[in-house]
Amino acid sequence: MKDKFYLTEKLPPYIFASIYQFKSEASANGIEVLDFGMGNPDSAPPKHVMSRLSELANDPKVFGYSTVGGIEILKKSICEYYKRRFNVDIDYKSEALVTIGAKEGIASLATAISDEQSYICVPSPSYPIHNFAFIISKSNIHQIPAINSRSFLDEFKKHVIGASQKPQAVIVSYPCNPTTEIVGLDFYSELVDFCKEHEIYIISDIAYCELYFDEKDKPHSILEIPGAKDIAIEFSSVSKSYSMAGCRVGFAVGNKNLINALYKIKSYLDYGSFSPLQMIAVDALSEKSDEYLKNLCKTYDDRGKFLIELFQKELGWEIAKPKASMFLWAKLPKEFAHLSSFDFCKKMILEAGVAMSPGSAFGASGEGFVRFSLIHDEENMKKAAARLKKIFSE
Ligand SMILES: Cc1ncc(COP(=O)(O)O)c(C=O)c1O
Repeated sequence: MKDKFYLTEKLPPYIFASIYQFKSEASANGIEVLDFGMGNPDSAPPKHVMSRLSELANDPKVFGYSTVGGIEILKKSICEYYKRRFNVDIDYKSEALVTIGAKEGIASLATAISDEQSYICVPSPSYPIHNFAFIISKSNIHQIPAINSRSFLDEFKKHVIGASQKPQAVIVSYPCNPTTEIVGLDFYSELVDFCKEHEIYIISDIAYCELYFDEKDKPHSILEIPGAKDIAIEFSSVSKSYSMAGCRVGFAVGNKNLINALYKIKSYLDYGSFSPLQMIAVDALSEKSDEYLKNLCKTYDDRGKFLIELFQKELGWEIAKPKASMFLWAKLPKEFAHLSSFDFCKKMILEAGVAMSPGSAFGASGEGFVRFSLIHDEENMKKAAARLKKIFSE
């Protein structure tokens, strides 16, 4: 009997799994680890969302299977949200689908559209599922260095023009996890024009689109570009915007062919998220959450500023201020520039009890960087700085 399997052998070890292992090792040695690694929001969801969930939990009728592709009222709310937020019209019947988080949506889309002959262009660094969804689905991937969006677009175009075979799709995700970069409509417009000309689908992921710190940096949807729906599908979710990551409710909107393909695969694979969680997503996406969003953005903005100033003062570590997202993306400090980002993170967990994400976990072009999630209060940030200071000064 086989004890090794084709796919699991082909996949490299998941870097975050090693990070968890180091955390357990540190805990076993009596070190309480301050985890700045995972982008798991620590804030409570909006109050109106939580009270609605407790009402729904007492309704015996909501415990059955839900509907593949999402309950109608949520699909309508997603369309209303797109209209209000981006001034984009979406047909809830043919252009919107509810997913079990954006991650599942992207993974299911990859299952739906992949074949061994085609390939996908993926930015590096990028949220790991952008690569691995397609690797797991036996598609091929071509990574495009994406330390900034301009060079990504130039490299992508150069690749397509010089390639004997066109990619089936390209992935873009702004505000970017991990680099925190945002893009303007000019970026999307150039990308849509080019992809239309070369018949390449665009898969956009805007999971962080509500987390920004200045009105002028408000993130866009690619669907704001007229005609983008001809080739683009976009994913988002309630995970980061409303601190509801455990609810597993996301959505896809845009191109009908891709939405259809996604629906078909999902009808084989799942029954959708628990209906009450979809119902509270309706409340989350409504205007009632506007004040909540303002406060949440302020929290991440304040934490970012605080950590940047603290690390600069205590550690001499210079980190650029992000315009959006819930992360800081930092070059390795000069004292540790000889280490890989993985080895640096390992050392900081085991010796200082401070966990962060190595840039290499997001792709080869992320090497030399680390990512901090802004999920701790000032007290914990101060604790982390004091612990790091000890190691930095050794
Ligand atoms: C870019 C990006 N997209 C999607 C997700 C996952 O979102 P969801 O919780 O909706 O699956 C993450 C989570 O870290 C992310 O960074």
